[in-house]
Amino acid sequence: MTDNITLTMIKPMAVKKGYIGPILAKIAEGGFRIVAMKYTKLSLEQAQKFYEVHKERPFFRDLTAFMSSGPIVAAILEKENAVQAYRDHIGATNPAEAKPGTIRALYGTDLGMNAVHGSDSIENANIEADFFFAKTERY
Ligand code: CMP
Repeated sequence: MTDNITLTMIKPMAVKKGYIGPILAKIAEGGFRIVAMKYTKLSLEQAQKFYEVHKERPFFRDLTAFMSSGPIVAAILEKENAVQAYRDHIGATNPAEAKPGTIRALYGTDLGMNAVHGSDSIENANIEADFFFAKTERY
């Protein structure tokens, strides 16, 4: 298990609005190094698998439908204390509550369409990184 990586996804609405470039620029500004990255689209089944920990939550159906509705960018980011550092950098889950200047405050629409995902623990960061990327795809 690596404790210096996190997994992010640029979500479908942010992709649709043309925010891939600005979000990647903010990620670089925050001092995160890209270890792996891909432009892809999740099937509903893949979104359900990725967000399995939330399967009992009332928002699970909407969340997985949305996350499989269009292309995303998935990336492994590296930095010391990456999980917490990235959570600080993207801001609160709800863009309306995210600190000014954070990625979700700048590019999020609402709680579901909150621009980006960031892993919530070191363990989940490693599980989520393995979900998208083979070890041979990481540099
Ligand atoms: P994310 O970091 O991708 O992890 C789970 C996602 O569920 C979260 O961002 C939100 O986009 C979404 N979500 C929708 N409704 C809620 C809610 N009530 N509480 C937490 N997350 C929610």
